[in-house]
Amino acid sequence: MMAHAGKPVTSKNFIGREKELALIMEYLKLGQSIVLVAPRRFGKTSLVLEVLQRIQKQGLYTAFVDIFTNPGMDMLSANITGEVLKNHKLNLQFHKAKTSALELIKNVKLKAVLNDFEFIAGFADKDRNDWELIAESIDFVDAFSKRHNRKMVCAYDEFGDITKFDKNDELVKLFRSKIQQHKNSTYIFSGSYESVMQAMFVTRVSPFYRMARIVHLSYLEKDALVRHLQHRFREEGINCGKDFPRQIAAITHCHPYYAQLAFQQTILYKALYKKIPSSNELLQQIIAVEKDYLEKVWEDVYTRRDHVLTLKALAHGSENIYGRLKTTKINVARALKNLEGMGLVFRKENGQPFISDPIFNQWIIQTTT
Ligand SMILES: Nc1ncnc2c1ncn2[C@@H]1O[C@H](COP(=O)(O)OP(=O)(O)OP(=O)(O)O)[C@@H](O)[C@H]1O
Ligand SMILES: [Mg+2]
Repeated sequence: MMAHAGKPVTSKNFIGREKELALIMEYLKLGQSIVLVAPRRFGKTSLVLEVLQRIQKQGLYTAFVDIFTNPGMDMLSANITGEVLKNHKLNLQFHKAKTSALELIKNVKLKAVLNDFEFIAGFADKDRNDWELIAESIDFVDAFSKRHNRKMVCAYDEFGDITKFDKNDELVKLFRSKIQQHKNSTYIFSGSYESVMQAMFVTRVSPFYRMARIVHLSYLEKDALVRHLQHRFREEGINCGKDFPRQIAAITHCHPYYAQLAFQQTILYKALYKKIPSSNELLQQIIAVEKDYLEKVWEDVYTRRDHVLTLKALAHGSENIYGRLKTTKINVARALKNLEGMGLVFRKENGQPFISDPIFNQWIIQTTT
């Protein structure tokens, strides 16, 4: 089977993350909500889906809402409500019937839900108030699980996107004030660094993050990745031992997205040239495939001279970067802090900063002067 880099992975192709899974499952068991942050493509969505699958197997209710895919507040409300109803396999019927009051009550099972939760009829009401509907939908997560006496774990992916709906951040505040009163449900808020954190700090007096423990997601564990790759290569009829998977781990720094891409590119290369690529060939292929994405990342920082200089210095080696940037007169500490906030820079345990995306690092070395 061909690996598809880009979509979230599930069960069979899901690699490692055992420590993160154990920690998150423990938090959730304690009823502790969490915020899962990582830069783009580190596997947040994949991990959340894996967590929810395990939670569901334990007999709890689950809901998964991707804020990004809902352009309007009405759609978001319907999405939340539908995800909750999915626990009773009523989501498809709900989405089909929701715009007509008659259809809603014609469906016996939906009618029963409607008796308990009148607000659902609001989806069929042309003059409904979108703010009331979203408020009810947010509460429905907890109310439904309470009604059926089950715990619920609800995940809001790309939660940072919540700020797109209104200028005054009223929706984030609404989410906070509602969710903090929920007794039956526990939440996972996930997304990329900047946006999620921004949303978390919107309410200054009582910020969002106080209700939730922050979990940072980093690279995959090397052993788990190497074992997994070896297994997948063998499935493809490539008996390469551990050396080649180790090279992939080295090139990609065990970054989940690039590791999958490296696997995919290797299979392609093998089909075309009847041999396995060298480390450098593989790296160059990955850079070529990712060209547009990397240029976009660079564009996002390009207007800030201090960011550009700091990233260039880091790309060429992260030791003594204060010394090397001394003559530029930029505020290195501040630039690093900003870049960390954007998820572009990580720190080693000893505090040494480095570029979190290993391919971006190579790209900077090769294409900028
Ligand atoms: N645990 C994992 N095991 C194997 N592959 C993974 C894992 N996590 C992520 N990946 C790979 O990385 C890609 C991106 O994963 P995912 O979409 O979950 O990341 P994300 O952090 O949610 O990304 P985005 O910021 O774009 O939403 C997947 O398509 C998959 O190839
Ligand atoms: Mg995602």
